[in-house]
Amino acid sequence: MELERLLRSQGFGSRPDCRALVRQGRISIGGEVCEDPYAEFDPAGLEFIVDGVSWLYRDKVYLALHKPGGYECSHQVRHHPSVYELLPKPLLTRDVQSVGRLDEDTTGLLLFSDDGQFIHTYTSPKKHVTKLYRVTTKHRVDARQIAELLAGVQLHDEPAPIAAAACAQTGEYELALTVTEGKYHLVKRMIAAVSNRVEALHRSAIGGLTLPADLLIGQWRFLDAGQISALAGRG
Ligand code: URA
Repeated sequence: MELERLLRSQGFGSRPDCRALVRQGRISIGGEVCEDPYAEFDPAGLEFIVDGVSWLYRDKVYLALHKPGGYECSHQVRHHPSVYELLPKPLLTRDVQSVGRLDEDTTGLLLFSDDGQFIHTYTSPKKHVTKLYRVTTKHRVDARQIAELLAGVQLHDEPAPIAAAACAQTGEYELALTVTEGKYHLVKRMIAAVSNRVEALHRSAIGGLTLPADLLIGQWRFLDAGQISALAGRG
């Protein structure tokens, strides 16, 4: 693939922008600056450096962000900064989208991709992908609340009760709650339905993929093939 076209596919701007990047000597491959925008490279596994930052050619991108509180999962934010501000420009140019959304005040694992099929798979209610949340509550957790969450709670505007796939008390004011749906404010509404209230909410895992312990708050990272296949496993 021509270098100019390759850079364009990876989100480094229009073809003229990419041509200029190359001609300005800002691209290195295999330890050498490449100033020919029409030089041919095999993209598979290609590592290239743009302005000193190393990138790997990727046909599609899959990434995990450790979402901080105080960020909205939207391009049209209303009151807070956007999670998209935490990602580098080439990924935004590639039009990565979040896989579902977390509330502004929810923290934890949030996925992004530019692969429409992948986004569909992991947001479709039919797939029953598990999502594990650490819920900090306002009032004490008790056995009745857990039993009700496991049996299913009737929420306003929902045709049928929604049950937690798993629920365990992890502290006096803390629950580990697994749900398989992605409805608006689902966890907050379920907890309210058992007469408690969410004080803090953190998503720890999606399917079999746990938020990496070394992915610090506000940081993102590409998922490797093992992590992508872990997603399909049960949490
Ligand atoms: N449920 C909620 O109530 N909020 C989230 O951000 C995610 C799940």
